Amino acid sequence: MTETVLLVGGGGREHAIAHALDRSEERDEFDFYACAGNRNPGIAALTDGFETLDTSDTDAVVDYAESVDATLAVIGPEKPLAEGVVDALEEAGIYAFGPRQADARIETDKSFQREFMEANDIPGCPDYAIFTDMELACDYIDEYDGDLAVKPAGLTGGKGVRVTGDQITKAEAKTYLRESDYEKVVLEERLVGEEFTVQALVAGDDVLITPAVQDHKRAYEGDEGPNTGGMGSYTDATFQLPFMSELHSFEALQVLEATIEALDDYRGVLYGQFMLTSEGVKVVEFNARFGDPEAMNVLPILDTDFYEVLVGARDDGSRMPELEFQSRATVCKYAVPEGYPTDPQDGTRIEVDEESAAAAAAEHDGDAFLFYASVDEGDDGLYTTTSRSFAVVGVADTIGEAEAIAEDAIAVAGEEGFHVRHDIGTEELVQSRIDHVERLTE
Ligand code: AMP
Ligand code: GLY
Repeated sequence: MTETVLLVGGGGREHAIAHALDRSEERDEFDFYACAGNRNPGIAALTDGFETLDTSDTDAVVDYAESVDATLAVIGPEKPLAEGVVDALEEAGIYAFGPRQADARIETDKSFQREFMEANDIPGCPDYAIFTDMELACDYIDEYDGDLAVKPAGLTGGKGVRVTGDQITKAEAKTYLRESDYEKVVLEERLVGEEFTVQALVAGDDVLITPAVQDHKRAYEGDEGPNTGGMGSYTDATFQLPFMSELHSFEALQVLEATIEALDDYRGVLYGQFMLTSEGVKVVEFNARFGDPEAMNVLPILDTDFYEVLVGARDDGSRMPELEFQSRATVCKYAVPEGYPTDPQDGTRIEVDEESAAAAAAEHDGDAFLFYASVDEGDDGLYTTTSRSFAVVGVADTIGEAEAIAEDAIAVAGEEGFHVRHDIGTEELVQSRIDHVERLTE
């Protein structure tokens, strides 16, 4: 039987997944299709067919999967998971690498996430309270001794959380809640420290860990401005980031393993967002999928055949091959439209392509990858939309070299119409993270 893989989703993360599958030694042995709400030209170029459809519409995804005779699906974004696309594909007899709807609640319902952690004694849970009445939530903010993270319980594309004492005052937090139409919010202790992400691939008894990544959620340099889906991220040449010790990795792994055990039969990616605090590693949140941008850091340096990983996961767990990563650092930088995320300006021509990225890397001792996110295809080329446009990833022996590659690759786009966080992965910013953790743990 010929295998047919279906990739669901059309962002930078999914382009990185497509790229990992396309590198498979068995690429000639399987057919490869993709569907997404937007036509991603990078994914379209790597697949045998690409369909534009609403991936939150589970019937539409199943219809397309059946029409291409999919035998294996991999789900990138959270929305289809929240809608139960894995359950729907399973009912149609198609295995999907991703959690079922009930398990995806670990991401899609932040109140469930905290209650689940507490009920199962999962370490690293901050103090929290859940409210459906926004006036009671406001009273709690007034009475709470200290700063709080205000988190809508449902999905907000990473843009709904507000942290008092950091982005807003307590008075502004109350206005935010009163003016919102949120049905449920989680108010939790503000965690202070350095954030990092660890993503685990899970199937059956297998829990495979990928290197720690640091994302940059704030729109502007120096971690200023509104929260975004993520502006860029880096990894070091080891599993730890420069401000972490092996103990921190171990604590994160313990949290992931305890969560996976309590979820019982979870499959897909479990993404842990952690805060390294003066009291050890705490959990900021879980996601039920690869991070975007974090997938673009770990997948390009994965030496293990990702197609074999998926087939191993499907063939009932404990069959996934061990993951081997190159001992190289990565720096990913997103180019987003000017004004993103509050007032994004679309319509800028994108001059960067795979050749220009490769040429930038050739100047250094490393590699460069280009991953498209949300772009419009015009007659004469690609144009920006109002979402993140494309990302470049530099890969080299050190973070500094990887950063230089990413900068050279992205410079081809020019400054006009784009915004890039040039500080991501720079020695100065990485050193400030190390200094921060030293101050915290003094
Ligand atoms: P989330 O949507 O849960 O990823 O939250 C977005 C961002 O809000 C996180 O990456 C953190 O920077 C911040 N955040 C969330 N929860 C907390 C918390 N308890 N303390 C401090 N910052 C938080
Ligand atoms: N980079 C954060 C996320 O994917 O949610």
